[in-house]
Amino acid sequence: MEREAEIPSVATDKDEVDIDAVARDAAASIAAAPSSDALTHIETEVLGKRSVLAKAHRALGKLDPESRREVGRQLHEVRTSLEQQLAARRNELAAAERMIALAADRLDLTEVIPDQVRFPLSRGHLHPVTQARDELEDVFVGMGFEVAEGPEAESDWYNFEALNMPPAHPARGMYDTMYLDIGQPETVLLRTHTSPVQIHLMEEAVRNDSLPIHAVMPGKCFRLDTPDARHLPVFNQIEGLVVDRGITFGDLAGTIQVFTEAYFGPGMQSRLRPAYFPFTEPSAEFEITCTICRGEGCRTCSHTGWVELGGCGMVDPAVFTAVGIDFQVWSGFAFGFGIDRLALMRHEIPDIRSFLENDIRFLSEF
Ligand code: DAH
Repeated sequence: MEREAEIPSVATDKDEVDIDAVARDAAASIAAAPSSDALTHIETEVLGKRSVLAKAHRALGKLDPESRREVGRQLHEVRTSLEQQLAARRNELAAAERMIALAADRLDLTEVIPDQVRFPLSRGHLHPVTQARDELEDVFVGMGFEVAEGPEAESDWYNFEALNMPPAHPARGMYDTMYLDIGQPETVLLRTHTSPVQIHLMEEAVRNDSLPIHAVMPGKCFRLDTPDARHLPVFNQIEGLVVDRGITFGDLAGTIQVFTEAYFGPGMQSRLRPAYFPFTEPSAEFEITCTICRGEGCRTCSHTGWVELGGCGMVDPAVFTAVGIDFQVWSGFAFGFGIDRLALMRHEIPDIRSFLENDIRFLSEF
């Protein structure tokens, strides 16, 4: 410690310590301390065990009683005063250091970085399939439907049996099903269509005595398909269900026509062709005017002017019975179609896999 060398080593002898001078020197270095760290060092030097003051204090015992009292009093005064000065300087320095730290952390929120002005940051947007789903919901809500959802993992009962497909029913062959082994006693699978949500809604309405139902149910579906230009193993459907008194096939056809024009634009037509689904009777496939050629005939519609959108029909009495709804009192229709397919047709996208490739150049087109 260089500093110690400067301090008179004869501090043990009170006559050789000029207490006033020590106090003045100490006060000067306290006032000049450039930082809190420096002040901590100075404190040790002026008041610490090896300081001139401490040594002088230790030497008090060698003095005669009278001088001892006098010198002791002086030492005490000086110490108290230096302690006060240290505390005051410490506060000053801390405040100044805080200001410096704050200034360093300061963010200028009005700052304009020239490159960001020339190349604005892209904010991104919803995926085209999500956009289609949102628009579909809007159209159906505008027609008086509610939007509902159901689970993606289902039991065999919801996905098949309650929909009038008992075990070994041949229609099960339409659905290449992914089964889940999660230790449940019953068969659990990833739903192959959104139709099981119909069952949930009807069960709930029976439980709450809240019929009628007017709902659409969008969601993910899963089938063990190899991806190709028109198929994905994970895709989206939207299901519709109306259960009320006196619902007829005319209501179904009318609803689909109103939807077609509301979603695709005025002049777009819809038509129904006989089909088979286990959960509806009678069943139909619905087609709409080809969105690409507007009915003129093109490659997409195989020159028919029509493209198939989905399935529909009148709710089969067996389905009503499965959920405990009296089909003598209530009737209803249902429909379901693929949202990805719809977006594909609408944007004339040649390959459905583009939706899952996350290629920003493709996604930013929409
Ligand atoms: N769930 C059927 C499928 O994915 C589509 C469908 C057909 C839904 C007829 C319906 C319906 O609600 O009535 O193949």
